[in-house]
Amino acid sequence: MERESRASFGGRLSAILVAAGSAVGLGNIWRFPYIAGENGGGAFLIIYIGCILLLGIPVLLAEFTVGRHTHLNSVGAYRSLSKRWSFLGYNSVISSLLILGFYFVVAGWTLEYFSTSVTGVIAEYSSSEINAARFAEFTTTPLRPVIYTVLFALLTHVVIALGVQKGIERSSKLMMPILFVMLIALAVRSMTMPGGIEGLRFFFEPDFSKVTAKTFLDAMGQAFFSLSIGLGCMITYSSYFNNKTNLQNTAFNVVALDTLVAVLAGLVIFPAVFSVGIEPTSGPSLVFVTLPSIFNTMTFGPFWSALFFLLLILAALTSTISLHEVLTAYLHEERGLSRKKAAWVVTIGTSLLACASSLSLGVWSEFKIFGLNIFDSLDFVTANILLPLGGLLTSVFAGWVLDRKILRAEISDHGRLKCRLFGLLVVLLRYICPVLLLWIFLYNLGLFEL
Ligand code: PHE
Repeated sequence: MERESRASFGGRLSAILVAAGSAVGLGNIWRFPYIAGENGGGAFLIIYIGCILLLGIPVLLAEFTVGRHTHLNSVGAYRSLSKRWSFLGYNSVISSLLILGFYFVVAGWTLEYFSTSVTGVIAEYSSSEINAARFAEFTTTPLRPVIYTVLFALLTHVVIALGVQKGIERSSKLMMPILFVMLIALAVRSMTMPGGIEGLRFFFEPDFSKVTAKTFLDAMGQAFFSLSIGLGCMITYSSYFNNKTNLQNTAFNVVALDTLVAVLAGLVIFPAVFSVGIEPTSGPSLVFVTLPSIFNTMTFGPFWSALFFLLLILAALTSTISLHEVLTAYLHEERGLSRKKAAWVVTIGTSLLACASSLSLGVWSEFKIFGLNIFDSLDFVTANILLPLGGLLTSVFAGWVLDRKILRAEISDHGRLKCRLFGLLVVLLRYICPVLLLWIFLYNLGLFEL
């Protein structure tokens, strides 16, 4: 089969916006606030930032190196560097598939909530009890969430089908700036609510009495999930970086933007939550139940709520695109399918899995894997097992297996950039990341207790 010459992203800003598009997603706006809420707010934030600095940046740089050096999909990239390590590429393919299996579902919910905001129906649900009941009713009915799930998969498909430059690059360049403006507007609105200060206190005043070993686990899983690392997504994206892309600068910007969005999301959610006296620990329903109730108390409530759910849609979309691309690039480059066919296979396959996981919240809730329904088990297995495992192996690979010259050449942009901290990066990749990740990983598997 004829393969078109491999696409690459345009300038420096494109690389940052596209990679940040993958990183910034439901992980920041939906997952981060409720996990922080469950783990004591401010204390979690500190541990989370520690994970980002110690584990996130080194693994992100390692993935950028592997991707940009090989200019191949994740399986091809590892295979070309070391045949024995190609299994790590498959870990990436499997993780992407499994993440899409629940991510499309939540992304679908954002479509429903956006549409009820636009039509103003959302204003009819006046109390948080009604909102909670409505959320439970919506997520457990069989049909509507499934339709929205498939719709979201199709939306992702359209962008992927447009190609690397016209689809992925262009859409990120358009959506990311809009996302930031909306997020800032919402944070300002939320922080000026009466009683909002309590929320800020919860988010910024660390209470270490809530910290347990599980907090570290959650923080690390969240850091990997949020930065889209540990599953080759950043390998796939950086394989489209051109040779002028400054990897250090890109990594730094992606991490900064991703963390900023998570903090801003906290600033949107916690002040609002406290101002209406809801518990911040309400779990995955936090943004779907709490926020609509709060919006309803505002003038122009449906407008704010439409803005918020549009924000979630854009954030989710730039992330589902990146996950889809991991699979599409793999099928296209490794399995010889045309890009178009590969994209369809991915869209159909992931939609089927996501529909099953949507149904597992309602009619199929009796079906359990290790005590969790399909939806929760996909979330748990990916964020708490596969991504940390992927991160562990990636750091071992980059620290011990990969030719040091390759790492140095990529990080220093072939000698053009200074890299004073290169020694530190190597130490982190060789020792710190593997040890920390192994500890957390074994703990996760329940192999030892703290
Ligand atoms: N980082 C994305 C988010 O925060 C999710 C994601 C994970 C995307 C892994 C790609 C790969 O929502």
